[in-house]
Amino acid sequence: MTTTWPAAQQLIPALARPSRVQGSTPRPDDHVIVMFGATGDLPRRKLLPGLFHLAAAGLMPGRYRIIGSSRRSLTGEQFGELARQAIAEFGISKPTGAGWEAFQRRLSFASAQSGHTESLAAAIEQADREIGGSPRRLFHLAVPPAAFEPTVRMLGAAGLGRGSRVIIEKPFGTDLASARALNKTVHATFEESQVFRIDHFLGKESVDNILAFRFANGLFEPVWNRQYISYVQVDVPETLSIEGRAEFYDQTGAYRDMIVTHLFQVLGFVAMEPPTSLDARHLRDETAKVFDALKPIDVRHVVRGQYAGYSGEPGVAPGSQTETMAAVRAEVDNWRWAGVPFLLRSGKRLAASRQQVTLGFREPPLRMFPIHALGSPNGRRNEIVIDFADPGSITLGFLAKEPGAAMNLGAAEMIFRYDDSFRAANTLEGYERLLLDAMLGDQSLFTRSDAIERLWEISAPLLENPPPLEPYAPGSWGPQPSLDHLAAPYHWHLRGAGPAKQALHNRGCSRGLKPPDSSSDLAM
Ligand code: BG6
Repeated sequence: MTTTWPAAQQLIPALARPSRVQGSTPRPDDHVIVMFGATGDLPRRKLLPGLFHLAAAGLMPGRYRIIGSSRRSLTGEQFGELARQAIAEFGISKPTGAGWEAFQRRLSFASAQSGHTESLAAAIEQADREIGGSPRRLFHLAVPPAAFEPTVRMLGAAGLGRGSRVIIEKPFGTDLASARALNKTVHATFEESQVFRIDHFLGKESVDNILAFRFANGLFEPVWNRQYISYVQVDVPETLSIEGRAEFYDQTGAYRDMIVTHLFQVLGFVAMEPPTSLDARHLRDETAKVFDALKPIDVRHVVRGQYAGYSGEPGVAPGSQTETMAAVRAEVDNWRWAGVPFLLRSGKRLAASRQQVTLGFREPPLRMFPIHALGSPNGRRNEIVIDFADPGSITLGFLAKEPGAAMNLGAAEMIFRYDDSFRAANTLEGYERLLLDAMLGDQSLFTRSDAIERLWEISAPLLENPPPLEPYAPGSWGPQPSLDHLAAPYHWHLRGAGPAKQALHNRGCSRGLKPPDSSSDLAM
């Protein structure tokens, strides 16, 4: 199924997937891709630019067609123009020259809705004929969550599901009952091996790199457990507001949009046991075991915030109780992690946009330095910070002796930056990686039905009994002091000039701790 293509390797050597596919860049079989919801925001921002970038990188199949579809009716030319504008605005590779012309010739459009699938079926048949042989079929459901089930049923009724693959967007359900119902509908038409539930965070280079960092090095894995690590944070604050997505967001909120959909998946990579291999079965088995070990969310360990002014945003229901920021303290109750808090936070209109995993290390057993006299459990800056926003970095924070006769400690860092160490041009954006994987039939980085159901199951106490909303000022780090209480006795790695940082400054003394670089907390 996978063949190598030297031209692709030349262009993008680092795409050889060292973790899962050793040595060569796989190229998908011939494909007909059908993109539902093709006139929407996601195809414009991510999917069309992503497919074109894959084509420019030589990673699309030798022969392929892309059929846009929606309830609206567009001509092929109109869809081509929509794609050109989208790629020009959001794409890494720009739509010009022979490459663009070849891509554009492969685009067509067919409207479809329940009971009216003739023109879509005809477009697929035509694409099959143009390609020749038996191309694979990939349906991408880039539609609002409420349309997942009707679209899958429509495919089933039209007999289009057989032998195809389907990518389903997120969030996959809104609670356990709806996720089960959706899985049931999906499984009536598709086998689990045909289903690709997307979380584009798992397509990010630096999230995939968590596996390499942990399992390819003898250095880190031995300390990757409760004996050495005192807390873990998965923190994804965003400065963005809801950006015209009120209809979706007000129904969804930060917990469903980000924590269930993305942050728990990242937690799965951070917390999993070493898998037998990196193939989809083993990897997804290990993630599922982590989710099995998650305790049901305790609502006393949740902070829900809403930024001031949210209810006045166009399209938001007056008096909306939707949270625009959620933070939870989760617990992975297994041999490796029992007692280690996993703090997950994400929200809109916060002080900075970051995507970080932080692992905080326990203090050394011997109290030799004055810093201990003041008893701050967070005084020692021993943290591994994985910044997984593209292009990504890993920082090890530790204390070092400053040069001189006195024993003054200073905050020090060792940093790996993707940009510095590898050619940034080699990387694929999250969606691009996952589109390629779906064409290759590699489910490693896609969510399995039982895993997503388990996440909704442990979320039930929170969804059924959400704690009251707390307001926060746009541009802040969220509602205080609740967020600090949630993290206590530890501290959020990303924070403003809060008490912990102040304490460090106060302790700068002749034979003690020098204040850390005052920019580092915010700049990382
Ligand atoms: C999406 C959420 O899934 O992820 C958005 O719906 C969020 O609310 C986005 O802003 C963040 O992803 P990215 O592409 O910035 O990593």
